Amino acid sequence: MRILFIGDIFGRPGRAIVRDRLPGLVKQHSVDLIIANGENAAAGFGITPPLVEELFELGIDVITTGNHIWDKREIIDYFEAADGNPHSPARRVLRPANYAPGTPGWGMYEGSKNDVHYAVIDLQGRVFMASNDDPFRVADQLLKEIKAKIVFVDIHAEATSEKMSLGWYLDGRVSAVVGTHTHVPTADERVLPNGTAYITDVGMTGPYDSVIGVNKEQILARFLNNMPARFEAASGDVRLCAVVVDCDEATGRARTIERLMVK
Ligand SMILES: [Fe+2]
Ligand SMILES: [Fe+2]
Repeated sequence: MRILFIGDIFGRPGRAIVRDRLPGLVKQHSVDLIIANGENAAAGFGITPPLVEELFELGIDVITTGNHIWDKREIIDYFEAADGNPHSPARRVLRPANYAPGTPGWGMYEGSKNDVHYAVIDLQGRVFMASNDDPFRVADQLLKEIKAKIVFVDIHAEATSEKMSLGWYLDGRVSAVVGTHTHVPTADERVLPNGTAYITDVGMTGPYDSVIGVNKEQILARFLNNMPARFEAASGDVRLCAVVVDCDEATGRARTIERLMVK
């Protein structure tokens, strides 16, 4: 199974480049399953139900998110209105699994594509971020429930050390641990010794003429003046950042991980 994972889709420019480039990437890399982080899909802040549907219509199978998941209140209603169907669209939009028990939404999805069983786990780091539950122990718990051999983990975190530690912790137990949230791709993709594909950050899919997606003048003013300011999505130098992970369906082990950046 070949999995394409697209890094944080940022605003309209991010959605537009996914629409334009995804069909070609799927063909070129013989992609079977598409996962994308959509936490910044709504002008940089959160995701709305219509944008969820827009991304699913482009062929994305599962959407992961992170700390921005709660920015648009409608997504909470969307989670709460989900019917009992474990494969409904609302079940295929994940919030980090290590929020407190009882938080709306789900942090893990298990399903199948072309008769191959797979699972996706969304986790959020705790270093320089809000104090969620322990992502390491939450991963242990989820892996006890999951039956699929192929397990893909999005670790949405700030600190390289925390992401890398989770990669080593899960090496041989999941197919891939990929980082999101910093919006800057890292050049450290590799398959760890026991068969887990790893990268510290996939990078953002959105405008790079910016500060992590936001209008650079607005962010600069914030650093210079330290006053509340309105943040808007930038628009220039749009790039799509992603990885392709090739997994052995019988064992769940990754064979290769390839980093992509397309303009
Ligand atoms: Fe993000
Ligand atoms: Fe984030």
